[in-house]
Amino acid sequence: MTGIVIAIDGPAGTGKSTVAREVARRLRLAYFDTGATYRVGTLWCLKEGVDLANADDVANMVATMNVELHLSPDNPRILLDDEDVSQLIRSDTVALTVSKVATNLEARSILGDWQRRVIALERDGGFSDGRGVVAEGRDITTIIAPEADVRVLMTADEEVRVARRAGEGADAATVREAVLGRDRQDATVVEFHTAADGVVTLDTTHLTIEEAVQAVLTLAREAQDEIEGSGEAPA
Ligand code: DC
Repeated sequence: MTGIVIAIDGPAGTGKSTVAREVARRLRLAYFDTGATYRVGTLWCLKEGVDLANADDVANMVATMNVELHLSPDNPRILLDDEDVSQLIRSDTVALTVSKVATNLEARSILGDWQRRVIALERDGGFSDGRGVVAEGRDITTIIAPEADVRVLMTADEEVRVARRAGEGADAATVREAVLGRDRQDATVVEFHTAADGVVTLDTTHLTIEEAVQAVLTLAREAQDEIEGSGEAPA
């Protein structure tokens, strides 16, 4: 039996990460924050003084970085050269520059291949022991894992998204830029505001986290039933 793959996309501030992580926790799946792969690539370039505008240099850095992912939803971590950079990749400096890496098509291709390998591993083994993975990002439902068993696009009104991020601490202008400015940049290379065919839209504007979690769990149960049903011998 192969594990379940749950793909969740959407812009910043939709509750995507919180929901993805909680769903993974409840179903005992791996939790894969694909945004962290773009963030760690950015951090690595900043540390090494690589010009983020130089697409080839950035792609080279991303191809050769030494990163270890820990996919536990209880304690997701990312190590760069054995240093735990889980906090550092969340800094304003990284948040405001990560789009330069996310819009670099060569870097996207390298990181995308890595993401596909991680997802494939969790279907058969890996951290989840083959139970599967919840992978969240911007292009998981469309480019990275279009064959996922559950595909969800989380959306929410712009002002609600900015307000949610503002509640996390940084000053208002930084938050607005980090949310909307970044979406604008990222939207030049991937579509994550409109659901592709077969992708379920979950508008969280008026939903609590628990309601959004329940919505995804319902889709996961339906998909699981289908997976198990399709394995049955015909009557
Ligand atoms: O979700 P996040 O804020 O951690 O994402 C960091 C950046 O990476 C953001 O600019 C969007 C981009 N990203 C992407 O282009 N594709 C993904 N699958 C995940 C993130």
